[in-house]
Formats: sequence, structure tokens, C-alpha cells
Amino acid sequence: MSPTTSKPRILTGDTPTSTGLHLGHYVGSLENRLHLQDEYDCYFLIANVHAFTTLMDKPDQIRANTIGIVKDWLAVGLDPDRSTFVLQSEVPAIAELTFFFAMLLPFNKVMRNPTLKTEIETKGLGDSYPFGFPMYAVGQCADILAFRPELVPVGEDQEAHIEMCRDVAAKFNQMYCGVGNRVPPEEHVKAGGLFPVPKAKIGRVARLAGTDGVNKMSKSLGNAIFLYDSEKEVQKKLNKITVQADPATGLVPQSHALLQYCDAFLPKERAAAIRAEYAGGKDVMHGHVKAELGAAINALLAPMRERRATLEGEIGDAKVAEVIRRGTSKANAVAEETLYLAKKALKVDFGARRLSF
Ligand code: TRP
Repeated sequence: MSPTTSKPRILTGDTPTSTGLHLGHYVGSLENRLHLQDEYDCYFLIANVHAFTTLMDKPDQIRANTIGIVKDWLAVGLDPDRSTFVLQSEVPAIAELTFFFAMLLPFNKVMRNPTLKTEIETKGLGDSYPFGFPMYAVGQCADILAFRPELVPVGEDQEAHIEMCRDVAAKFNQMYCGVGNRVPPEEHVKAGGLFPVPKAKIGRVARLAGTDGVNKMSKSLGNAIFLYDSEKEVQKKLNKITVQADPATGLVPQSHALLQYCDAFLPKERAAAIRAEYAGGKDVMHGHVKAELGAAINALLAPMRERRATLEGEIGDAKVAEVIRRGTSKANAVAEETLYLAKKALKVDFGARRLSF
């Protein structure tokens, strides 16, 4: 629980390696965050230190992306008056915890982390990535545990990281807080553990296909519908989707992007009716389905586009600076409290330096 509210805490974050959110981000994670803002004390982290793992030579770009991401969040409806926006590089407790947590993870286990392996492949990092690259996965455990949250809403691709974070929390509680090995994860705090063993919360749609109909929606694959595409652009992208029957069955596969979009953006009954038409082998009017989807998606995006437009330029930059300052200051109070308690458990609490807690 949070000291300032009686609500349980949540932490999640984004790495500012790019800006420009798309529908995949929305249904995979952002929508979840929007709903959780009422019931939870939410912390949203901009992982700008992690951005240096792949863009270390581009600090200007990281800075611009950081501002862009916060604008994206505001435009989508994340609300800095209800939730806390945190800038990772200004929370020293995260860096301090990272080193201690690195002792709780076997090196080879980190290197086998499937999320890291996939990233090394898809980003073409080969074997020349810096030491700090795999280190970010340990850092992510500290991002999370510094806030002692119960839930971590993330996309499916982050599950391995949350699993590692659960390992670290459990090990810390067992090694330094006297929690027995048989205590189930959900009872660690009750048994004297400092860290709740947090759970991942995966979005409504784990993987949304892109407009190429096959691959996961992604900026780099050029198959994304962005949250700030114009109405016309959205419809144009939908119209270009090719819908072909599988020659073996004569049917449009139920996994097709268009049908995924029906599930994601149309009312349930309507999506089911369209799916049934395709499954029945009828000559469905794709154009009509695309128009219906275009209208639904544009209705969803209209308020986001409007809000994003008010955040352009210096006025928006000033707003971003203000929410980062305010949020990070509040976040540091929580993270320093965690650090204080962790140092006590680690028996390194000599009071040699005053924490702001
Ligand atoms: N690694 C996450 C991503 O690429 C971003 C992130 C950093 C994060 N720290 C976090 C997500 C802590 C959840 C919790 O999407």
C-alpha cells in the first residue's frame, strides 16, 4: 500500500527509444493504464537511462523522445494529477538498488532471458552490445521494486523481465528479511519481506497484427496505425489491407488482422457477427468492414489527436517539464523509503548519508 493513499501501487514504464505510439501500444498496454488510474496509485516511468543501452551516442534524440513520450501519455489520457510520472535518471535509489539486485541473479540466467535474446536479434546487436545492455534487465527489477508495486501492467514481450523481477524480490525477502523458502509469493510481505512479489498484468490484446496482416504492429516494420494519424490516413491504411482466403480452406483465416481489429475496436456482438460471416464462407464485403472499423478507430483517436495538438511546441514542453518535476519529486520520496528499508535489511545502514525520506 502507498503511504499517501490507501490504494495499492502499480508501476510500469516506457523506454524513449522512439516516440509515436500506435494502436498496438494502445490495446497492449496504454488502455490498461488508463483504466487502472482510478483504482491504483500509479507510477509511470520514462526509462531514459535504458535508452542509452542502444542510443548512447544520441543524447539529443533520447531527450527529444523523452519529451515526446510524456506528450503521448498526456494525449492518450494518462493524468499527472492522479498518477505519478517518473524520470528514471533522477531517481538515484534505482541505480543503488540495481547493484545489490545484480548479486541475486545468476549471470547465465540473465543472458538466457528470452526478451533480451529477441532484442539482440531484432535490433541486430550481434555480439558487440555494451555491458550495460543486459544490465538494463537487472535495472528494470530496480525500477519496479523501488516502488514496491503489486502489479506491473506490460505487453506480453516484457513477461520474462517481470519473472526475473519476481525472482529478485523473492530472493531478497528470503536472504535479507528472513522469509522462509516455503512461503508463497503472495504472502511474502505478511511474512516480513520488504518487497511484494509483483505480478505482470498483460493487456487486453497481447499481440496486435499490423496492416500487412501478418507481423506484429511495429513502427520499424511500417505496418502501424499511429494514434496521431489523420482520419484519412487511418482509413487509407485500413483500405490497403489485403484480405485473402486461405486456398486450402477457401476461408479468410480467423487470425487475420482485420478480424483482430474487429475484436479490438468494435462492440463484441458486432465483431462476433463479422467473424461468423467470414467463417461461414460468405462473400463478405471487406470494404464495408473496413469503413466500420475506420469509423470506430477514428472515434477512439479523435480526443487523443485533439489533446496532442495542444501540446505542440514550447507550451507543451513546459507542461512536460512541470509534470516530470512534480512526479519525480513525489516518486523519490517513495523510492528513498524503499532504499532506506533495503539498506537496513542489507545491514549497510550506518546513517552516513541522509536520505530525503
Ligand atoms: N523495458 C520496458 C520496455 O521496453 C520499459 C521499462 C523500463 C519498464 N522499466 C520498466 C516496464 C519497469 C515496466 C516496468 O517496454
